[in-house]
Amino acid sequence: MNDTAKNASGDLAKVFAAASSRADRWREVNALARAWATATPRSTQADKLREDAVKVLAGLVRIEHCWAYPGQRLIDAMSDALAERDANTFARIVQRASGAILTGEFRRDEAIWDPKGEAESLALDALPPDSATGPTSKPYFEVLVVTPTDPAAWPRAREEMRRMRRGDDQFNYQPVHVGSFEDACLAVMVNDSIQAVVIADGFQFESRHDLPDLRDFLARHVKVDPTSLAPGALATTLAKAIKNYRPEIDLYLISDRSPELLAGSDETACVRRMFHHVEEPMEIHLSVLDGVKDRFETPYFDNLKKYAMRPIGTFHALPIARGKSVFKSNWIRDFGQFYGTNIFFAESSATTGGLDSLLEPTGNIKKAQEAVARAFGAQRAFLGTNGTSTSNKIVVQAVCKPGDIVIVDRNCHKSHHYGFVLSGAQPYYVEAFPLTHYSMYGAVPLKTIKKALLDCMAEGKLDRVKVIDMTNCTFDGHMYNTKRVMEECLAIKPDLLFLWDEAWFGFARFNPFHRRRTAMGAAAALSARYRDPAYKAEYEAFAKKVKIDPKNTAQLLETRLLPDPDKVKIRSYQTNSTHKSMSAFRQGSMMLVWDDDWHKVEGPFTEAFLAHTSTSPNLQLIASLDIARRQMELEGYGLTMAMTELAIRLRKTINENPLISRYFHVATAEDMIPAEFRESGFKDFGPPHSSWAQMIDSWDRDEFALDPTRLTLVCGNAGFDGTQLKGLLSERFDIQINKTSRNSILVQTNINNSHSDAALLVKALADLSREIDQRLAKGGKPAQETHAARVKSLMVDVPDLPNFSRFHDGFRENPKSKSNEGHMRPAFFSAYDEANSEFVKLASKEIDDRLKSGPEMVSANFVIPYPPGFPIMVPGQVITADVITYMRKLDVKEIHGYVAAQGLKLIKPSVLAGRKQTNDA
Ligand SMILES: Cc1ncc(COP(=O)(O)O)c(C=O)c1O
Repeated sequence: MNDTAKNASGDLAKVFAAASSRADRWREVNALARAWATATPRSTQADKLREDAVKVLAGLVRIEHCWAYPGQRLIDAMSDALAERDANTFARIVQRASGAILTGEFRRDEAIWDPKGEAESLALDALPPDSATGPTSKPYFEVLVVTPTDPAAWPRAREEMRRMRRGDDQFNYQPVHVGSFEDACLAVMVNDSIQAVVIADGFQFESRHDLPDLRDFLARHVKVDPTSLAPGALATTLAKAIKNYRPEIDLYLISDRSPELLAGSDETACVRRMFHHVEEPMEIHLSVLDGVKDRFETPYFDNLKKYAMRPIGTFHALPIARGKSVFKSNWIRDFGQFYGTNIFFAESSATTGGLDSLLEPTGNIKKAQEAVARAFGAQRAFLGTNGTSTSNKIVVQAVCKPGDIVIVDRNCHKSHHYGFVLSGAQPYYVEAFPLTHYSMYGAVPLKTIKKALLDCMAEGKLDRVKVIDMTNCTFDGHMYNTKRVMEECLAIKPDLLFLWDEAWFGFARFNPFHRRRTAMGAAAALSARYRDPAYKAEYEAFAKKVKIDPKNTAQLLETRLLPDPDKVKIRSYQTNSTHKSMSAFRQGSMMLVWDDDWHKVEGPFTEAFLAHTSTSPNLQLIASLDIARRQMELEGYGLTMAMTELAIRLRKTINENPLISRYFHVATAEDMIPAEFRESGFKDFGPPHSSWAQMIDSWDRDEFALDPTRLTLVCGNAGFDGTQLKGLLSERFDIQINKTSRNSILVQTNINNSHSDAALLVKALADLSREIDQRLAKGGKPAQETHAARVKSLMVDVPDLPNFSRFHDGFRENPKSKSNEGHMRPAFFSAYDEANSEFVKLASKEIDDRLKSGPEMVSANFVIPYPPGFPIMVPGQVITADVITYMRKLDVKEIHGYVAAQGLKLIKPSVLAGRKQTNDA
């Protein structure tokens, strides 16, 4: 892997990290320009600096045509200054341009676009009509124009587009012209400001720029053989490639073929509007603005703002609304001062009129939900105001009824387990692969899921298996190959429903790399695949060779299974904690649905939604979900790409720092995913381990891939357990982290993180490492031995993770059955009657005696140590020796469902003896 990695690294990686690496390069040119301007004129040093500036600028300019700013005019001015050896002019122009790129000032200040740098020096008629009033704060974006026209005509075309702007336009944009398919793809990839692409038929395929390395990169994403395309098909092929890469972008096609005929074809389904060549350019301008307006509009938030500004007197049960009792108060005025007035002005209720109802949306909440569905690539979407904890319960209750079987990752969030108690569904627990050395679990192997389905098939109860329920990605960053899991499971049962808990992963929709591993990404890809006539032939060849029969289990587990396209249904549900990865307030959550059989679920879904949703949902929260959607649809691509790049840099910085890496280490993909699930051989992100191309390959093929934005920072070698390090980082360095394990903490990067945040963490780790170094040096042998013993206890003497044992026979329909599902609900409720349960102390001899000679101990409730946060006991589960050993070794403070002073809560043996082995739910 390493040789190829070397070749494909460097520039290729920078394409992905386009925004930050571009800013870095501009900073570099700026530093050279300043040094050149202050060096003695015509000295050797000045000549060398000038030469360096020429080189760096040349490298930069190679892809600068992808952005509107600084644009050809400013770049020409820089080149002229270099040619004329005018260091001062060069430094002045570069400084302004690089500063504007870093601050985004070019979006607001027209003067910065002028090489002379003086606003007054611009001829007024060259300015758009609204810029005479000074800098504008309108949202800014760029429009890519792909055109066959001569580049010499582009400045004039740009000027014409600028002249169409009006003072009351809602947004401000600048065009970026390119002349080829390759340049267009590249611009869409590297320039996250592009919101619309206008494609004029007749452009060429190859870039006129020198892009050999970038060409490799393009070829991975856009598989097109230009020689095999019919005339005119390049434009529609480009449109589809862009839609596939960045689905949020609006596409416009200008053609001199009959646009009305083209408009009805599948080829142009992804195009928003078509125009004839001679059409009025003003129409295109207005369409572009209209397209962005559709994404910018936040129906609920907009309405809430309007509502808040109306003079209203309330005689509703809303004492806080309008804030009068707060601002006039003698005692709680600081509450008002802290939050400001708007939060109180916007406090209301659906029943006051004017605002839609979350429980039965018909107006702006309905529109907001439709916009969420569009943005996240779902068929429908629902907003949740009590976190994904409740969203999961809603979905579980909507799609399962008593007696249904759910094949579920035992380590899933507790909301799923509670959902089973509520719905009466029977969980069939399947195990994730363990990462014992970090005291955590990975994800559930596909073979395990297939085996569970085939076992149910063998016992004639496949019809009762309704749902496959998995966490994607897991807390620690294991991403499923959602497409493959769905495809192979659907081969065994073609109407299976998948619930993908993407609590951490909502952001993943917004870049094409993560998207391939999401619930909705898989639903869209599989839907298209099964509609394709080529798939039918693939399936027929498969069906001739492979028979889906549990007698063939061994073969079926080894074979890649394909579903029958005439029977298969795509039924993918996703829940996400919008507040965990996007700009929503705490508890903001979404439920996304892609269900070909929605008509069967709609009724129960409505019931479940009503059962779990407050009749007084928080309006600010709903508005924040609307806003989070707007942001992701307009800047999610740039934000998620940048956060991924930051995470990869952070991984590399920590692991390569000679001081820090003595004590701390960010777990790599190789550390986190056993080799058998990494078919591609991918081990770690970035050179020298891998190129970005290899990372994409791994994400395409491997059974599991690691989300780089979730960093398991192993701290056991520093002598810290996770909780200790979490405390230290918070108290001494003001750094908040996510969860902990026995010897690690989880560092999560998100759309909010900056390079300064990364630097803060690196500095903290460096400080801590230095202190450990000094402590061990000063303390001599005794200190070193104590440290080594602590490290051993954290890193080596880790408790084995207990698997799910089994449900007690009294909670099983057929105790001999191969599948392990059980009735959790009666077990859960039996403990409501105090007389049915008993407590046994964890350290007591009674436990050891009962493990040896019975009677069996059966948990009366969920016991969830935090960390790791999954239930090591569920109601009705037989407690085995490994669970007790694990509990006894646990050194965490929080164990939900367990009070040490009381002991383990068990269902009394007499109650168990009385349970019939029937379907007694
Ligand atoms: C996998 C998973 N699902 C669901 C939840 C619950 O989400 P929320 O905090 O939004 O209620 C969590 C919370 O940590 C989680 O990790």
